[in-house]
Amino acid sequence: MARFHQMAGVAVAIGILALSAAMAGRVASQDGGEAAGAPAALLKAVSAFDPIADPKARSIAIFEEAGKVLQHPRCLNCHPANDRPLQTMRMIPHEPPVFRGPDNMGAPGMMCGTCHGPANVRVVGQSAGIQSIPGDPNWHLAPLTMAWVGKSLGAICAQLKDPARNGGKSLEAIVEHMAGDHLVGWGWHPGKGREPAPGTQQQFGDLAKAWLATGAHCPAG
Ligand code: HEC
Ligand code: HEC
Repeated sequence: MARFHQMAGVAVAIGILALSAAMAGRVASQDGGEAAGAPAALLKAVSAFDPIADPKARSIAIFEEAGKVLQHPRCLNCHPANDRPLQTMRMIPHEPPVFRGPDNMGAPGMMCGTCHGPANVRVVGQSAGIQSIPGDPNWHLAPLTMAWVGKSLGAICAQLKDPARNGGKSLEAIVEHMAGDHLVGWGWHPGKGREPAPGTQQQFGDLAKAWLATGAHCPAG
């Protein structure tokens, strides 16, 4: 119980911090997604795979390129293999400790939405070194059947294609999710202080479409 109060206290503290910063005019409701440090890595265009004549080999090579996004910490941090989200490029367990709860939205008292709003919120001058709090209207943890952490790219690929594990989606719907989903898009606009996923969501979506068009083959392993 003391633990719970301590955790709730952290939530309140962060809330007050954001609020007081907002009153001082120092929190931007929308953060352009600037990263401090390393710029985003690039993605190859679909045309770069044209020289691979065999459609299956081309499909796998295209998926491996898209895998640079799928296995980037911006995505993996929300697709953990246990009940706790991860944070930062080092993929450390979420601080303060939060858990997925019954609907992947947090446990009562520590719901994701307590701290994560509909958009990134910039925090200036905070001592903990956190430059922004990520946000999206749909911010919550990916279900356990969609866990990617610790899995090979081939295993992630097979899982994406399996309706029993991908939320009952068709392959077309999965590709559409990658190309257009707003929460997926957060990966390229992750807020100040976070490195974006490689390339752009448009490029990632184009790779996903080309993967489907070439038979949606998976890497081995
Ligand atoms: C008490 C406030 C609080 C709660 C509750 C909370 N978070 Fe966070 N979360 C934060 C803060 C602050 C950060 C930024 C930390 C940083 O960048 O080092 C963060 C960062 C994250 C990140 C890291 C993004 C990245 O790629 O680095 C993920 C993922 C995340 N939260 C998911 C969740 C999920 C899912 C829930 C609900 C189960 C949740 N959070 C609940 C405060 C909270
Ligand atoms: C804030 C947490 C969060 C982040 C960050 C996140 N996801 Fe997800 N992801 C989810 C949730 C939740 C679902 C379940 C579907 C839904 O509710 O939108 C999901 C589902 C998916 C699915 C569909 C199904 C499946 O079988 O896995 C794909 C594909 C996906 N995410 C891709 C990505 C990519 C690519 C990134 C990074 C660019 C990313 N996600 C970042 C939370 C997240």
